[in-house]
Amino acid sequence: MLANSKLSWYLRRALDHEMSAIQYYLTQSNLCTLWGLEKEALKFSEEANEEFEHASRIISFMLKLGLNATSTQLKAIPKTRTLKDILIVDWQLEKDVVELYKDASFFCQKQGLLEAYELFHTLLQDEISHLSSIEKWISELNK
Ligand SMILES: [Fe+2]
Ligand SMILES: [Fe+2]
Repeated sequence: MLANSKLSWYLRRALDHEMSAIQYYLTQSNLCTLWGLEKEALKFSEEANEEFEHASRIISFMLKLGLNATSTQLKAIPKTRTLKDILIVDWQLEKDVVELYKDASFFCQKQGLLEAYELFHTLLQDEISHLSSIEKWISELNK
């Protein structure tokens, strides 16, 4: 695969991920509202906004490269019945994207694609912090 088509592949996977994450967190925010968990609903809504901002950065980058910035593979949201179920699902979601952005950053750095490296590296830092805040939340629930 040519370097540029591999970069397009990473950007499309990234956009699929971020659009899926928006859908996950919006759904979970609304579920928490239904369950009467207002503070948690707000937290998931803020999370959705952060993922929205990530999606926007990726779309902007793709448009600058002349790529079609369309997400075509949204992940299905697993059924969840409790807050802990939700957090376990989100932990996996964030873990997967951390791996994706690690690979993408490494690839771009190796290929000397510096702007793309900057994008993926910054996204990676945000997702690492999402992952650790979910881990903290799960450990608080287990207390
Ligand atoms: Fe994100
Ligand atoms: Fe995230």
